[in-house]
Amino acid sequence: MSTLKLLTDKGGNSVYAHSIDGHYFPPFTLDVEYATHLENIKKMHIRDDDVVVVGYGKSGTHWVWEVAGMLMAGSTNYIRNIKESQFLEVKEVAVLEALTSPRLLNTHMGFRFLPSEIVTKRTKVIYLLRNPKDVAVSLYNHVTGMNAGEKYLYNGIWDDFLDAYLQGKVFGGSWFDSVLNWEKTVAALTELPVLTVHYEDMKKDPLSNVQRLSEFLGVQRDSEFCQEVVEACSFKKLKHAKENLKENYLRNVWKPGTAGFYRKGEVGDWKNWFTVAQNERFDAVYAEKMKNSKLKMQFE
Ligand code: A3P
Repeated sequence: MSTLKLLTDKGGNSVYAHSIDGHYFPPFTLDVEYATHLENIKKMHIRDDDVVVVGYGKSGTHWVWEVAGMLMAGSTNYIRNIKESQFLEVKEVAVLEALTSPRLLNTHMGFRFLPSEIVTKRTKVIYLLRNPKDVAVSLYNHVTGMNAGEKYLYNGIWDDFLDAYLQGKVFGGSWFDSVLNWEKTVAALTELPVLTVHYEDMKKDPLSNVQRLSEFLGVQRDSEFCQEVVEACSFKKLKHAKENLKENYLRNVWKPGTAGFYRKGEVGDWKNWFTVAQNERFDAVYAEKMKNSKLKMQFE
């Protein structure tokens, strides 16, 4: 049975999404039904040296995936393939099984969708957080910039998108549900090794955060190497690598003139988008939804 559903914003603009167990996924087309794909992912085997990068979409997954890949390889050569080649949402289990170890799996999904063996194998999880106002702006540019087929086309205006985002009616579902679920999971599964990385901290002090990642991954790269990783993974260099150097089968999924996966790479771009009224509404929703959370987001 098809899980595709139309998400319609308050201005009447729609986009398709797979609606499964309270989550909205982009309208990916696979050889199997999307719900079957997710069941297969849940049951897939995890290897002892797998690492998983997790975060709500637009939290800096590409960046941290490249950093972790270089640390694991001990080389600042760009990984030949793109992050999406190990993306649980779209890669069928057979494709993931054909990857050589160590795998650097990545996903924007909630914990309930992840392979069950992550818990039993105590897989290392790198968990990314970014302030939800910048995430909203980044996601809006992503969904309006895409040209990946009719089902993906969304032409809503910013105000209507922001309303949909606050209701969780966007790709990835509710940011609030996503981070609150992860917070609960991390607190409950104390034996699961999880390193939380804030996008804003990576921007402020990339070297210390690359060193934290190195230690967490157990690779102990020296500070000179970590500094080389910081430089190789700068916004400009990663953008260039993705657009020119890698085997990038997603090069043509963007409308001409749009920025693609690497757009601006800054903290606080939300101030260029939010009106005073939008910001007040956002803050009120944020205060209510996050009232029992210990998570601290950095909006500046
Ligand atoms: P913007 O749209 O605000 O520019 P993800 O990889 O999870 O989809 O996140 C994408 C966001 O991370 C985009 O944000 C992108 O520009 C930003 N990003 C990617 N690489 C970066 C880097 N090296 N430094 C800073 N931001 C980066």
